[in-house]
Amino acid sequence: MFLRLSKAIQGMAFFMCVLGGLPSHAAPDAVAGKAKAQICAACHGENGVSALPGFPHLAAQPQLSIFYQLLQFRDQRRKGGGMEAIAATLSEQDMRDIAAHYAALPPPPAVAGGDAEKITRGQQIAQQQYCSSCHGAQLQGQKHVPRLSGQSSEYFVQQLRKLRSGVRADMDGTMASAARSLTDEEIEAMAVYTRSLP
Ligand code: HEC
Ligand code: HEC
Repeated sequence: MFLRLSKAIQGMAFFMCVLGGLPSHAAPDAVAGKAKAQICAACHGENGVSALPGFPHLAAQPQLSIFYQLLQFRDQRRKGGGMEAIAATLSEQDMRDIAAHYAALPPPPAVAGGDAEKITRGQQIAQQQYCSSCHGAQLQGQKHVPRLSGQSSEYFVQQLRKLRSGVRADMDGTMASAARSLTDEEIEAMAVYTRSLP
């Protein structure tokens, strides 16, 4: 309990630090970000829509969400996919510019079809669990909260499990508590539902 609390405080301090740091930097430049994102395309796709299963789409992710995730990778608070090493090569201005570029791209196409029963079930669970209270009415993401609509379902399942177990630490502990009681079956149903959203 104490550990969890101190982790949450640490997370909040990190968050406030970042917020406090915002005004002193140059405005994010999406055009510069496009050039800087060339090295990301191999894995995240030319237009932020990855062709590789299990790799996250970045297109239309909220700018702040991309920026904070890059900071978390750089500081090794989040690990995976070799992203720690990649983020370590970026300045905070690079991160802001790249985030502005991806945020402005059209969202990944919804994956139509799929198991209709799972989609309905996924929608029910998402409503019961109030996922949209943080992730937005259409689960399109907002502020520092990532977009879920249209996201790769393999990635969705993998990350939700990591958040549930604490392997992936989240910024303020809110997502860990949202994931705690979810079963694998519920996570899978929600993955089919969210990827079907435009
Ligand atoms: C070699 C492949 C590869 C390259 C190159 C790469 N990434 Fe990633 N990226 C990944 C993988 C895999 C993940 C998922 C990590 C995990 O398992 O948590 C990821 C995750 C991310 C996330 C978190 C997404 C989310 O929804 O939370 C962001 C943001 C990101 N990458 C940005 C970038 C940027 C910006 C670049 C270029 C500067 C880049 N990546 C280059 C493979 C790559
Ligand atoms: C209290 C706010 C809150 C609620 C409620 C919430 N989330 Fe989240 N969620 C977040 C935040 C913040 C993050 C980013 C976590 C981080 O890395 O710090 C996140 C991250 C995620 C991710 C990882 C996405 C990515 O791109 O890496 C998934 C998947 C997710 N949430 C699914 C859900 C689902 C499904 C529900 C409902 C069961 C839910 N969330 C409810 C705040 C919330």
